[in-house]
Amino acid sequence: VRTVRQAWDEALYGPAGRFTAGHRDFATALTDPVTAPLLSRVLLDLARSTPVDGDFTVVDVGAGTGAFLQHVATCGPADWRLVGVERAPRPAALDPRVAWVAELPLRFRGFLLAHEWLDDVPLDVVRDGRVMLEDGSPGAAAGPWTHGWGGDEDGSARDDAWRAAVGHLDRGTALAVDYGHTRTTRRPTLTGWRDGRPCRPVYDGSCDLTAHVALDSLAAAVPGSRLSSQRDRLAAVETRGLQETSALRALRDPDGYGGYGWVQVDRR
Ligand SMILES: C[S@@+](CC[C@H](N)C(=O)[O-])C[C@H]1O[C@@H](n2cnc3c(N)ncnc32)[C@H](O)[C@@H]1O
Repeated sequence: VRTVRQAWDEALYGPAGRFTAGHRDFATALTDPVTAPLLSRVLLDLARSTPVDGDFTVVDVGAGTGAFLQHVATCGPADWRLVGVERAPRPAALDPRVAWVAELPLRFRGFLLAHEWLDDVPLDVVRDGRVMLEDGSPGAAAGPWTHGWGGDEDGSARDDAWRAAVGHLDRGTALAVDYGHTRTTRRPTLTGWRDGRPCRPVYDGSCDLTAHVALDSLAAAVPGSRLSSQRDRLAAVETRGLQETSALRALRDPDGYGGYGWVQVDRR
């Protein structure tokens, strides 16, 4: 019997997995037509403010629809290299300047974004110190992560994935944006998503599978990281017009996107 993590990985990223097959029915602030333009502008401004000599590369890991990179291709500097890292096939209408690859560039300088990537990285679910199997029965003894950080979902897979991704950045800024919890708000969060609505998690590729990101552990995974809420990070954003005002309200809503964590690390 597979572990939940193995079943989750196969369901999303196996040869016939949901993302491998090109399903893109997730809804994020970068796919929502209300919030996407303003959030893209804010993220592009952050990239622009990153002091890097020489070649500048923007890498979006878990790039999804490529919406952010499309924005950068349209509104950003013409000499930046743009790279989408994805398991899913290249979106049809993406700007030809954007490279679409399965692995991060070996080494780069610039801006690394992971927007709602890590919640989709499969993890071990732990019950009574044992890794849970797909059928709910107990498997092998769990690793040390849940002892240290608490809760029933072993966040080490996300910490490792993020640490590895940031390891490719020589100079610049790395930013992970995701919904999550910290030690005081830790709770079981494994959820299936179908047609934008939560559903019981099943591991047959018929739904997306996500779990909240342990933001405190993520920030501790890379020395020098800062964890803040999106609400706070966007406090000084100035808006023009009604549409941007409602976008900012949605992006700073403490019960919605505003509660998302920004884990940022600057490599100088
Ligand atoms: C919820 S979507 C987010 C997409 C986009 N960043 C956004 O915010 O709209 C997560 C994406 O991460 C991709 N993904 C997950 N693990 C990955 C990995 N190890 N390498 C590349 N892409 C990955 C999935 O295929 C999926 O498209």
